[in-house]
Amino acid sequence: MKDQQHQPRDLDGNPVTPGLPMAMLAEVTHRCPLACPYCSNPVELTRAAQELTADDWGRVFRQAADLGVLQVHVSGGEPGARRDLAQIVAHARDAGLYVNLITSGIGITRDRLEELDRAGVDHVQLSLQGIRPDMADRISGHPGSWDKKMGFADWVRDIGFPLTINAVVHRQNLERLPDMIDLAERLGARRIEVATVQFHGWADLNRRALMPTRDQAAMARQVVNDARIRLRGRMVIDYVPADHHAVYPKACMGGWGSTGLNVAPDGTVLPCHAAQSITWMRFENVRDRDLDDIWLNSDSFNAFRGTAWMPEPCQGCDRKTVDFGGCRCQAMALAGDARATDPVCSRSPFHADVVARAEADAQADPADFIYRRMKKGD
Ligand code: SF4
Ligand code: FES
Repeated sequence: MKDQQHQPRDLDGNPVTPGLPMAMLAEVTHRCPLACPYCSNPVELTRAAQELTADDWGRVFRQAADLGVLQVHVSGGEPGARRDLAQIVAHARDAGLYVNLITSGIGITRDRLEELDRAGVDHVQLSLQGIRPDMADRISGHPGSWDKKMGFADWVRDIGFPLTINAVVHRQNLERLPDMIDLAERLGARRIEVATVQFHGWADLNRRALMPTRDQAAMARQVVNDARIRLRGRMVIDYVPADHHAVYPKACMGGWGSTGLNVAPDGTVLPCHAAQSITWMRFENVRDRDLDDIWLNSDSFNAFRGTAWMPEPCQGCDRKTVDFGGCRCQAMALAGDARATDPVCSRSPFHADVVARAEADAQADPADFIYRRMKKGD
């Protein structure tokens, strides 16, 4: 069934056929023992009672594999908060998907990690908030998190999982980026993702605490470049730069509805993790509609495919098939219009204001963290 509102077209008016997704983010829960202020989850978190069951996830994984998905990132919140996580993982493995477990490492015992190994986890991605106990525990809002994470990393190595470290960097930990890269190497990681905080969800509430300075952004680029040379052949460094201080935006999600999709804990299917910030958009749910139909035919996925939807200056820009006009959710947050050129682009009419606001946030006295918490009773 084709929705009617958005039919993707190129600038000549020709219909555009969507490609197939390779990866799916399965947010199996929003529950989490940590309270990181940089979290991109929506401020209105999904309650446990609304979560898909393990069998629901099994159906979604089979539909995803049929659609062409090769890899599932099992994430949250903290996926370990689901008692039936091994069952969910086993369903993903049965569907033939490569399973990447994205975890804080808190709340998963060694026995459970071994059970997850048997169930079919192929790879583990562990988040890191800092390089010392005081720093990691303060940023995560969870006393003792550092010790638990280091113990978890030992088990990952003992069991033999390939390990990626995920480090979200921001104003309050960027000075220690070289140490984070060293730590990832010591932990035996094959890869580290250095992701500058993106201001969606809870992170947007914490702009004055987290916005990096322009000098920090420049330093981070240099540190990453140097480390990539030093670690070539030993550890890969993926880097998401601070785009408020960049000339052009990032190609968010590699282009809307092009290579990946997210399924939220309640089964809502999203083109990206922050899509629900686009408040006028209606999103489909796997409880009501099959995944391939949602991917191919829904208005939400078709809204920003092709190039015909693009505004100026993107339409006349030679980078429109490089960055696809940037991030739709950032355009919504900064310009109040998800169809606008991403305002972090130097060609956007909002750019000067956005940079001035980012500079002001970065120079202000750092505000106290607003920690990510579920409302009481959730
Ligand atoms: Fe990208 Fe649009 Fe900026 Fe060109 S004008 S660089 S397409 S965001
Ligand atoms: Fe939604 Fe970038 S986070 S398009």
